[in-house]
Amino acid sequence: MAKLWGSRFNKGTDALADGFSFSIGYDWRLAKYDVQASIAHARMLGKCGIIPKEDAARLASGLRKIAGQIAKGTFKFDTKAEDVHTNIQSALKKFIGPAADKLHTARSRNDLIALDMKLYCLDESKQIIDLIALVQKAVVQFADKNKDVIIPAYTHLQSAQVVLLAHHMLAYVEMLERDKARIYGTIKRTAVMPLGSCALSGTTLPIDRNFVAKQLGFKQVTANSMDSVSDRDFIVEALSDIAVLGMHCSRVAEDIILWATREFNFVDIDWALCTGSSIMPHKKNPDILELIRGATANLYGNLNEVLVLMKGLPLTYNRDMQLDKPPLFESVEKIKDILGLLTRLFVGLKVKEKIIAERIYDEAFFSVDVMEYLIKKGVSYRQAHDTVGTMIKECADKGKKIAELNLAELKSYSSSFGVNVKALLDPKVSVSNKKSLGSTNPTLVRREIERWKKLLR
Ligand code: ARG
Repeated sequence: MAKLWGSRFNKGTDALADGFSFSIGYDWRLAKYDVQASIAHARMLGKCGIIPKEDAARLASGLRKIAGQIAKGTFKFDTKAEDVHTNIQSALKKFIGPAADKLHTARSRNDLIALDMKLYCLDESKQIIDLIALVQKAVVQFADKNKDVIIPAYTHLQSAQVVLLAHHMLAYVEMLERDKARIYGTIKRTAVMPLGSCALSGTTLPIDRNFVAKQLGFKQVTANSMDSVSDRDFIVEALSDIAVLGMHCSRVAEDIILWATREFNFVDIDWALCTGSSIMPHKKNPDILELIRGATANLYGNLNEVLVLMKGLPLTYNRDMQLDKPPLFESVEKIKDILGLLTRLFVGLKVKEKIIAERIYDEAFFSVDVMEYLIKKGVSYRQAHDTVGTMIKECADKGKKIAELNLAELKSYSSSFGVNVKALLDPKVSVSNKKSLGSTNPTLVRREIERWKKLLR
């Protein structure tokens, strides 16, 4: 297979060097973007009179045929052709003959690869945003279905206070919404069209970069040809967005892994997302969630790989930059799988209401509510904290419950106590009494569920 260069070479490349440098093994994923970019470029060459109009039409129709094959999965990639650009170029030559030789006019693989990668990132970013929205929908539906369930909530993994399960779920939805916002921000900075920067300095030919940009749906062209072919910020940003998103997914996975243990026993994970043990017949292991948790290491590694790859590279294009692809592709493909799996998780997740209900009658959950009862009666925060702390300690020492204390006993801790404080030792009262915006108050949570349902429709 001919290379796109080589006339000034006095011998062929070393076979080991070829194997070491060829990128077709992974950059075939860019084929559809490469063709899309080339169609826009060919039309521009014709429009600007750089090549005859008939040649431009021939190029475009040949490229459309290739696009059709790529879409159908019938395009045959030649692994002996070094990269995706060479593959498309030589297929085009087979289709339309010598006119194909004009396609590469006024462009270089340096600006072309930057454009291909941007088109890939923009396309995949939109898909990832859609997949995030599907997870959010599944989580909101799960929250809605279980909207009256109250669960213990934790800090330091020690039981702290009670909340609505729906409130916990909507925390995930918020995290995921920030992930979408981050990706939208990255899309905005990525969507600047680099083609026409050529090798690094531009071209003497009368090209129309804005025309190419418009055809490809870009609103802007890059302002500096050297920056255009050097810049991989958009890849670092995409990988960073995915790393943060993966971190969120790993935290969701970890919550559910814990909740599915015999010790917590809050939920049942769909069997379809679990595996058994080869030795212990009783086991139902949450392997898929563990792998989601583990895959985050991979996503962080990929971000780090490209950061290190780019560090200290002199302007402009350097072949090192070819190696930005495997980590990007891996992260994109992995996060899409993770998001698909999380959607399935929440669709099939069952809540063990009865068992959870038995866990939320521990008086310790309501200590802050009792403290705030005193504060409302004018007791200082410090005093209230001490009073309730002492009461809890002494009750624990005597094996007594606060609910069993009579008025005199209550008053012995604080004259501000009345028997009505005992009404606070109830999970439903605890969540209902929360007043602040963003709290677990059931009316507010219900409103949030409705807000998200509308937003995600
Ligand atoms: N395969 C290369 C990459 O991914 C394409 C650009 C090659 N440019 C060059 N001058 N060799 O970066």
